[in-house]
Amino acid sequence: MTTGARIDWAAHKTRLVDAATADRAWYQAVARELVAPGDRLAVDVGCGGAGMALAVARHMTCGRVLAVDAEPAIVEVARARIYDEWADPRIRVDVALVDMDDVDSLRDTVGGHADLVWASAVVHHLGDQQRGINALAALLAEGGRLALAEGGLPARHLPWDLGAGDPGLELRLHAAEDRWFARMRAALPRRRPMPYGWGEALRRADLHPTTTATTLTELPPPLPSPERRAVVNSLANRVDRLRDTGLLTPADLDTWARLLDPGDPCWLGGRADLFLLEARSVHVGLRG
Ligand SMILES: C[S@@+](CC[C@H](N)C(=O)[O-])C[C@H]1O[C@@H](n2cnc3c(N)ncnc32)[C@H](O)[C@@H]1O
Repeated sequence: MTTGARIDWAAHKTRLVDAATADRAWYQAVARELVAPGDRLAVDVGCGGAGMALAVARHMTCGRVLAVDAEPAIVEVARARIYDEWADPRIRVDVALVDMDDVDSLRDTVGGHADLVWASAVVHHLGDQQRGINALAALLAEGGRLALAEGGLPARHLPWDLGAGDPGLELRLHAAEDRWFARMRAALPRRRPMPYGWGEALRRADLHPTTTATTLTELPPPLPSPERRAVVNSLANRVDRLRDTGLLTPADLDTWARLLDPGDPCWLGGRADLFLLEARSVHVGLRG
């Protein structure tokens, strides 16, 4: 699924649609805060399963929401989801194939000044993140808001001691993911460091004032089966991404293989002590 810096997003299409469905309540709550009365044009950049595009549309009274993504297979699933879920003729919800690195075609596709631009977990995939943020800020109308969902705290799901392998397995997964992330960024074309936080990046794009709000999501154990399944699938995906990188030890990979095998007595899907604890940050800058 991943070769060096190049992520095959098409291979993630089902996971991204599942995530957009599972995160529906979070999207709704965030959209309620972000959409202002009178908003007419909103853009969801790097839309994945179009979860935010749909949530924003639900809070607008008229106008247009445009979801864009650089991966044709993702555009296809986003379009299918919008077709299934959206019927209100007062708000048009469109999907377009655009690479946000191509600043001119992004601007031409949006075709006007946006009241709200949302970009979740996409800017960190650009070599030059500040350039990307500047391009998103340039799409805004006066009074428009750019919201970046980036950072927060990595999700926790497992007790420290699982009774299988060495304790602290999940913390070592987080550490390995952090090193994977550094490698991913190091291999991006036109990479430029951004050695300051997201708020400062918004200010450098001429957006003032800026705010950051972080939401804690907590589901205590025992998780209902759909949530438990989603947690196990997400862990399986994350371990899979790291499998051939050398970032997890053979001993930890063996433990994960047992935990993720439905035929093994240690299978995570059979445990009542999985939980969900996650903090997600949204950084907003205003075109004043
Ligand atoms: C980690 S997913 C996030 C999806 C969604 N925003 C969410 O938060 O669930 C990143 C998404 O950005 C898209 N993407 C990656 N690079 C892009 C680029 N340069 N321009 C537009 N979309 C891009 C991918 O195809 C993928 O759908």
